[in-house]
Amino acid sequence: MRRAALLPIIISLVASTSAFPTSLHELASSLRRRASDARLKTDKGYVSPVDKGGKMLTSVPGTFPEGLGEPLNVVISGNSDAAVLVDSPQNGGLRNYWLSLRFAGECLGQHLGSDQAANLGDGNGALNETAVMRFDYDDPYLGTCQETVKGGNHFRYWVQNGKDANTGAVFMAASAEKPAAEGHDILPNGYNLARDWLVGNATGGHDPIPTYNLTAGATFTGSTVFAGYTYRTTATYVDGLLKNSSDGVNHFQSVPVKGLPAIDGLVAVLEVHITNTPAGAPAPSGGAQGGAESVSARWTWAVALVVGAIAAWTVC
Ligand SMILES: *[C@@H]1O[C@H](CO)[C@@H](O)[C@H](O)[C@H]1NC(C)=O
Ligand SMILES: *[C@@H]1O[C@H](CO)[C@@H](O)[C@H](O)[C@H]1NC(C)=O
Ligand SMILES: *[C@@H]1O[C@H](CO)[C@@H](O)[C@H](O)[C@H]1NC(C)=O
Ligand SMILES: *[C@@H]1O[C@H](CO)[C@@H](O)[C@H](O)[C@H]1NC(C)=O
Repeated sequence: MRRAALLPIIISLVASTSAFPTSLHELASSLRRRASDARLKTDKGYVSPVDKGGKMLTSVPGTFPEGLGEPLNVVISGNSDAAVLVDSPQNGGLRNYWLSLRFAGECLGQHLGSDQAANLGDGNGALNETAVMRFDYDDPYLGTCQETVKGGNHFRYWVQNGKDANTGAVFMAASAEKPAAEGHDILPNGYNLARDWLVGNATGGHDPIPTYNLTAGATFTGSTVFAGYTYRTTATYVDGLLKNSSDGVNHFQSVPVKGLPAIDGLVAVLEVHITNTPAGAPAPSGGAQGGAESVSARWTWAVALVVGAIAAWTVC
């Protein structure tokens, strides 16, 4: 009799244990949905920072003369797959994409050098870089330590996600630097070369990008793979964002070659799509969300089952 009286309590317990994590989960995914709903869709997949009071050059602290910057010479378009635009190594996200291009986080997690700031015109004002990624010399774990010593390609990045231009586009300032022993200065033509090596790494399988023969509208396409995710990248070179000029460019004295300005004024816009996922991984567009959902749902069911079993045992 006493056990039977407990039944409604047990039933409501089972119901609430399974409902609680579900509603938390629903809250989280509705917040996520709202974040991506708020994304601004544009034909190009980004908004020119210059149109909105921002700049296509970063601000490097302590330059002489003051106020020099580095070009934001690569943009990952907001029209790329949503999963690629999530700053994560999971579910085929941005960090996994960069690993497929052979770029990884800094040596043993140590952040070297001073932070640069950029204003992407999205209403966030000037923000310090999100992080620095370095060429990993084919070793995703320790290779960036080699980059720190030997020099080579690296980039800093910022995401255009402020309320005035929430495109989700990733703006990258790529440059190739000299070895540490030579003070990590930028190599001659080091901005254009870094952009084109990165584009070559992203679209591989062909001759190097012809840096000195590039014109606006040039496109390159190819695929890369990491952790079972295959990415198809189309790189389109666009003009009008940066100037073909040395004005305001950091190291404007040492970077120019062949009588040309320090930068050629072209930006490589990458549109990235996931064309293959590892077996069992969620579909590309809903990547992160799908994964979280199934884990949380499984956990909910496990709790409900255990509580149900205890209830059955108690009652009978
Ligand atoms: C940006 O980084 C510099 C150090 O490089 C630091 O002094 C400054 O406070 C940072 N600014 C913001 C807004 O975090
Ligand atoms: C890939 O990157 C490396 C290092 O920056 C560079 O030497 C190489 O030329 C790049 N590959 C292509 C195809 O551009
Ligand atoms: C650039 O173009 C010129 C002629 O238009 C050609 O002779 C040269 O080989 C090209 N260079 C590269 C690196 O493609
Ligand atoms: C940049 O300007 C130089 C002249 O200063 C010109 O030779 C070169 O072709 C221009 N590059 C591009 C990509 O327009």
